[in-house]
Amino acid sequence: MCGIIGCVGRDDTVETLLNGLSNLEYRGYDSAGLAIGGGNLEVTKKQGELENLRAELDNNESSVSGTVGIGHTRWSTHGPPSDRNSHPHTDSDNRVSVVHNGIIENYQSIRDELTTEGITFTSDTDSEVVPHLIAGYLDDGLNPQAAFEKAVERIEGSYALAVIIEGTDAIFAVRNDSPLVVGAGDSAYFLGSDVPAFLDYTRDVVYLDNGEFAILRPDGWTISNQEGDNVTKNPKTVEWTAEQTGKSGYSHFMLKEINEQPTSLRQCISGRVDELKDAVVVEELDHLSHVDRVQFVACGTSYHAALYGAELLRDRDINSKAYLASEYATAPAPVTKATLVVGVTQSGETADTLSALREAQNRGAQTLALTNVVGSTAARECDHVLYIRAGPEIGVAATKTFSSQLVTLNLLVEHLARGRGRSTTNYELITALRNLPNQVQHVLDESNAQEVVDEYVGDNAFFFIGRGLNFPVALEGALKFKEITYEHAEGFAAGELKHGPLALVTANTPIFAVVTGDDERAQKTIGNIKEVEARDAPVVLITDGETEAERYADHVLEIPDSHQRVSPMLANVQLQLVAYHMADRFGRDIDKPRNLAKSVTVE
Ligand code: M6R
Repeated sequence: MCGIIGCVGRDDTVETLLNGLSNLEYRGYDSAGLAIGGGNLEVTKKQGELENLRAELDNNESSVSGTVGIGHTRWSTHGPPSDRNSHPHTDSDNRVSVVHNGIIENYQSIRDELTTEGITFTSDTDSEVVPHLIAGYLDDGLNPQAAFEKAVERIEGSYALAVIIEGTDAIFAVRNDSPLVVGAGDSAYFLGSDVPAFLDYTRDVVYLDNGEFAILRPDGWTISNQEGDNVTKNPKTVEWTAEQTGKSGYSHFMLKEINEQPTSLRQCISGRVDELKDAVVVEELDHLSHVDRVQFVACGTSYHAALYGAELLRDRDINSKAYLASEYATAPAPVTKATLVVGVTQSGETADTLSALREAQNRGAQTLALTNVVGSTAARECDHVLYIRAGPEIGVAATKTFSSQLVTLNLLVEHLARGRGRSTTNYELITALRNLPNQVQHVLDESNAQEVVDEYVGDNAFFFIGRGLNFPVALEGALKFKEITYEHAEGFAAGELKHGPLALVTANTPIFAVVTGDDERAQKTIGNIKEVEARDAPVVLITDGETEAERYADHVLEIPDSHQRVSPMLANVQLQLVAYHMADRFGRDIDKPRNLAKSVTVE
């Protein structure tokens, strides 16, 4: 995700901001920039590494200085990485400078309105509407604070905003569903999307809650709520080591990324579901031509997401199939120009997936990249692109990106189903997707996965079973488990156990069974659980409690009740925690498991 740093009250503002940006590099970024204020605003920004920004500042003949400033590392969501899309963004007269994390859902309508009023936009971003709005309110005679607050009233979505305004020595900030922290130094004050941004200067931090505004001035900071009332918050001192800081205090990036899922899922859904119309709104797909069948190509975790997507489409009566990209690349399935070949790829750089997509494109299919990385090879080469907006993932094990892939696949499927005249998206699904981030948070807060895995340390092998949409989740649970624990783990369609794998089942092979809802599949899976129970295998049940399955389980990992398409995503979070805690128990190199790479660029 993007990174924000701000500081007030230091003489070396530029160096402080650059140092903060450098401490945020671990989050991943494609461009960086900063704005210095106090008097006139000076903005410097560059695509690429922080070194490019430093070089630009060195070249800048008028030396940039001031005692207030904001900086940003960008991870593209709207518009490709470029100098002009980098933050900070300014209004037309360079009076207001803004850095933004998150997504402004209603930016297009505001942009249209401002364009009609004669304002020229200089970037493709959603963020640029903010400085123009503030400038407009300044022109109306509002003071800087009121103009900022009025602009915030206009925007919808997720945002952490930091703003400086010509002629003031303050930073104006607000947060909604995107983190923001104030650093309370002795004589200087800081703002960060994450504590490492300013940890070299202070360890005393105040976390903003949703809807809270902060103003940082040379003589102190204040926080107020949406009603304009002052909020008293005492700084807390963080005790993290240097190594922990990049991980926000988590012991591994994987655990941090598992815990980021409520935020990344909100970002994924943001602006893409319209509850009033019970519909998904995915502008990126507006230019798809007629589609009569869908082929997914993907590897590893992304392949499991593809299996889930294919099942959703079949459920909507659309012909679809998921292929392992490495197989498809050498033996492609027949396509026509009405075939949509979807490359599901977090990185957008996986060689097998790129090769399969190129093969499909050469044969005349339409191609779509469903990816996390703006400007990746898949995004550039495919005819269409749909971003999952999970933010950068550092751990080799895919976690938050898998969840965002599943949600994005729901959006794709509903878009295609509507195009084919299938019944419209139902209210229950939209509501369930909207509720998902909070439900994931609940699972994260309440999970007993750590205690459960302690019971099975030293067992021989670990099996994961599920049916229907829970089958890909079982496969993913096993992949995650084997990848980071180095223990033998396999995922099976629950009904397949009796066709061979049952021979492996003993009292030392725990079975992780996913049972959600109470349909025929759930009941049949309970039958499969009884089969393994009869062979003395311990059963760990991941369930929403809709069936009587708990009677046959040794341990239960609960998930909240949800829509049948969404429950597998909640079950997956429990399995992520199972894998993580077991690997941690063994002291594995969780973020960089042996022999594996984050991006596999060879076939
Ligand atoms: O970047 P991609 O999604 O194309 O990567 C595909 C696989 O290499 C990847 O999903 C891999 O299986 C995961 N890192 C495993 O956690």
